[in-house]
Amino acid sequence: MKWSQFFNTSIGKKLLVGATGLFLCSFVIVHLAGNFQLLYNDQGKAFNAYAAFMGHNSLIQFIAWGLKIVILLHAFIAIQLTFSNRAARPVKYAVSPGNQTSSWFSRQMAIMGSILFIFLIIHLANFWAKFHYGDMPTQTYAGFEEPLKDLYRVSQETFKQGWLVALYVIGMIGLSFHLIHGFKSACQTFGLNHKKYNGLINFIGVWLFGIAIPIGFAIIPVVIYFK
Ligand code: HEM
Repeated sequence: MKWSQFFNTSIGKKLLVGATGLFLCSFVIVHLAGNFQLLYNDQGKAFNAYAAFMGHNSLIQFIAWGLKIVILLHAFIAIQLTFSNRAARPVKYAVSPGNQTSSWFSRQMAIMGSILFIFLIIHLANFWAKFHYGDMPTQTYAGFEEPLKDLYRVSQETFKQGWLVALYVIGMIGLSFHLIHGFKSACQTFGLNHKKYNGLINFIGVWLFGIAIPIGFAIIPVVIYFK
């Protein structure tokens, strides 16, 4: 079987969703670590220097474009899989199998994934599009020859709007539910569901991706709003 044919089978698609999902899990860790600099009390020097470095480094820009393709691929194939699973079972069970065959989290994946996708579109318009293509304020800092684009100020202004803070908190609830199930499910797809590792996979899925990371992201707009 050719690779192109393999990735058209449902197992091939599941592997693609799992691999792209795990890549996105690693992205959220790096992204959150960078974003915490928004909470430094340094007039945005560290965060703006970091954003300038990320925006000008060609390797990082190459990865950043790959990231957007990966997000679209992940969403597109996951939607395809959801529809083909439904088509394979057009008549619903008379009695819902409920928790016996799929957990609540797994049945909510499409809804939480969609909330996350809408969040991402608004998020990219607010930050990424403004930074790369919009009119940005600039700020001069000691130690830097040229003024830096002031993404810090843009985020302070963005998170002074209550509705956007609410949107970020709701988006992070979507992220939490999506990752709790998604991380575990991707590990299973790659055959890691062995009783030796299940405890660790559950722990990382729930505590790191389901709780710590979404709370970490949500705290930033909330702190800026009340500052
Ligand atoms: C408090 C929460 C967040 C803040 C303050 C924040 C901030 C930012 C900023 C300032 C950028 C522009 C950086 C640049 O283009 O150089 C950005 C880009 C981006 N953010 Fe976020 N972000 C947050 C949460 C999230 C979450 C939860 C996700 C995904 C689930 C996410 C996904 C992305 C993506 C995909 C990009 C484009 C990356 C790139 O092109 O390099 N962000 N974010």
